[in-house]
Parts: sequence; structure tokens; C-alpha cells
Amino acid sequence: MVYKSKSYKEPTNPVGNVAELFAGVGGFRIGLARAGWKTTFSNQWEPSTKVQHASDVYVAQFGEKGHTNIDLAKIKSIPRNIDLLVGGFPCQDYSVAKSLNSSKGLKGKKGVLWWEILRLVKHQKPKFIFLENVDRLLKSPSNQRGRDFAVMLKTLGAQGYLVEWRVVNAAEYGFPQRRIRVFIVATRKKTSKIPNPETLIYKSGILARALPIEKLTVGIQEIDLSDRVERISARFNKGEDKSPFLSAGVYFDGVAYTVRTRAKLTTSAMVLRDILVPDSLVSDEYWIDEERLPAWEYLKGAKSIARTHKGSGVTYKYAEGKMAFPDQLSNPSRTILTGEGGTTPSRFKHIIKIKDRWRRLTPIELERLNGFPDDWTKFNQHGRLISDGKRAFFMGNALVIGLIEKVGKVIASEVKQSG
Ligand SMILES: C[S@@+](CC[C@H](N)C(=O)[O-])C[C@H]1O[C@@H](n2cnc3c(N)ncnc32)[C@H](O)[C@@H]1O
Repeated sequence: MVYKSKSYKEPTNPVGNVAELFAGVGGFRIGLARAGWKTTFSNQWEPSTKVQHASDVYVAQFGEKGHTNIDLAKIKSIPRNIDLLVGGFPCQDYSVAKSLNSSKGLKGKKGVLWWEILRLVKHQKPKFIFLENVDRLLKSPSNQRGRDFAVMLKTLGAQGYLVEWRVVNAAEYGFPQRRIRVFIVATRKKTSKIPNPETLIYKSGILARALPIEKLTVGIQEIDLSDRVERISARFNKGEDKSPFLSAGVYFDGVAYTVRTRAKLTTSAMVLRDILVPDSLVSDEYWIDEERLPAWEYLKGAKSIARTHKGSGVTYKYAEGKMAFPDQLSNPSRTILTGEGGTTPSRFKHIIKIKDRWRRLTPIELERLNGFPDDWTKFNQHGRLISDGKRAFFMGNALVIGLIEKVGKVIASEVKQSG
């Protein structure tokens, strides 16, 4: 298939206003603009570095209007005219603490961004919320599988939302990367009519229409979340080794309904080969010198190594399987991780073989795997070049834009229908 890079275009007659939190380099904004949405408020702040690289790229591309580069916790509110709140937020521990003075009520753990998102939701109650996270969110924490997601559903539901979720592998919808994420879409409830959960999950829900699925399980599992949130936080699924949250579901009125599903392939599939740039445009640093190949080969290979635990001195066997080496051009790529950039050999970076030469992927190719316009992350707002390592880091943090566009279009159609 021939790959065509699409540039960013602000919608001329927008369907509504978006607030983009945890904006990174603007993946949600690009996808939603393609679905007719205008992002009028954005926030991006990287706690671990002084230089704010992602925010700098964001401003270089979209300008400063409506953008802030401060800790989300310092943002008092989002504008009143926001219709859709979006963000790919970090996965943290969402446990709930009860304050000593119980009149103060529920308290989220300090520094946990979920409670900051919820605070903004409470204040403004946007019609729609669209969040993205690693699929581990459905299973965390490891000593109480699924508790964090249960707390999320319960607290969003308490604000008057019906919440849908779905684990999505981008490659199953025709995109050239096997990136698995959980999408969460919350709709502010308009009526007290009780919906049919099965119809919502398979047919009428926003995610069902945007990303069609097939039935895999016969029955729907019900998860009771009618308890108070402090008790859910303290007790949910204690002592069990599996999370009850499956790959698709919906939550309303104190009950989550969940099923295991599979994507219905609707488009022809793109593969790694389709997004490659011509060899003549790939500079020397991406090609692997022959004498360095064994180091790559070792890291990619299967191994079993005896290791000693630093603290306890206990020895154990560390084992890992074989990675594809080189990465197959005829398949969608593996997930881009934040450590993808740089020349140091690594188990997780992509390596491709072209004729008899081996190389890493270039920044443009990584951008294409996520559907960003070519060279989206090349410059900061001062016109200075961004390092390749940083550009790869942005893509490791970002998302597959085509999926956002699909969901954005269905939310847009909801807005148009309701007039
Ligand atoms: C998973 S990334 C989202 C990437 C984005 N969707 C994109 O397309 O590039 C999460 C982002 O949240 C930002 N972040 C982390 N803590 C934050 C905070 N306290 N306030 C604001 N942003 C924060 C990180 O710097 C990171 O860019």
C-alpha cells in the first residue's frame, strides 16, 4: 500500500471545542481536527525535565493560544465552552484514602493525576470525555487487580457519565503498528432511561460504531460497583489473581458490564514496509555497522541468566524469549517504546533489513507508524532541531492518530444529531 502523509488542518466549521490534557506533541488534536473538532485549550508539562521539549514542539506546530505548560494540578478549571475533554494520562496508583476528618470526604492520593482530571470534570462537566491509557490500567495494581479501573469507573459515573471502554490494537484496524491501548469514552447522561449493555457494547455505543467488534464470549459478565468508592478502593477483587475487566465494556448506575471481544477488520491492512522512506534519504547513523550486529543479535536473542537480587542476595534465573530480528517488513511493526531512539544496541528498538544492510527506523518512519504528519517533531518553537532520541521518545508516548479520528467522528455525529 502506498503511504501518504497527511498534514494538519484546523477545521473551518468545527463541531465543538476540545480541551487536550497531557497533550504531548498533539496526537489527539491532529486526529480530532480530522474529525471536525477544534482544540481551544491544551496543557502539557513534563515533570522530569527542565526543558519542556514536547510542549515546545506543540507550540511550534499550533502556536501559544490556549496552551499552558504547567503541572495539571495547578490548573484551576477548563473553559466553560469545552464540549470534549481528552487526554492520554500516565497510569498511576488510584487508591482512595479517607481523610481523618470524614466531613472532608473522599481524598485521592496526592500527586495522582486521576484526581486532577476528575476535579476538572466535576467543575465543568463536559458532554464527552475521551481518555487513552496502557491496557495495564485494567489490571492494576498487581495486589488488587482491576481496583484502579473500578475507582475510575465509579468516580466518573458519580459525576453523571455513562462510561465505555475498549482495548484496541491499532494493527487490527488496518494501521501499521501493533499498539495496544485502552480507550475510555464517557458520555454525560441525558436521560434516566436504562440502556441495554449488550447493545451498547456491540452496536450502539460510540466505541462500537467507531471500532467494530465481533462477539467472542456468550454471556456478559457483571461487576458490582454499587459500594461506596472508599470501600471499592479498599476491597475490590482482593485476593484474586485476575482482573474482572475484559477487553470491552460499559459502566452505568453502579454496574460494569464486560465481554471479551475481537476487532472486526474493516480496512485493508498497512504493514511496516508501507511507511519506509527511500534508502537514499536515510542518513548514515541509522545504518548498523557490521561489527555492531552481534551486539544487537545478542540482545534480541533468547537467554537465561543467573542474577542476584541486590537487597536480599537471593539468586534467581532471569529468562527472556527471542525477539524478531530483523523486524518483519510484511507485518505491522511492534509498539514504539520511548527508548526507541539512539544508536546504542537494544532489545526493543526496531531493526529492519534492506537487501543485505540493517538499519534502525528514522524519526519520520516512527511518526508515520503513529500517523503523524512527516517531520511533525523536527523543530521546537525557536526553530531549533529536536534530537532524534527525543523525537523517538515523543512517538513512544504518543498514539495512533487514525484511531482517534475514527472515535472523534462518531462523537461528532452524536453532537450533530443532538443539534
Ligand atoms: C502518554 S503521554 C501523552 C502523549 C500525547 N497523547 C501525544 O500524542 O503526544 C502523557 C503526557 O503527560 C505529560 N504529563 C505528565 N505529568 C503531567 C502533569 N503533572 N501535568 C501535565 N502533563 C503531564 C507527559 O509529559 C506526557 O507528555
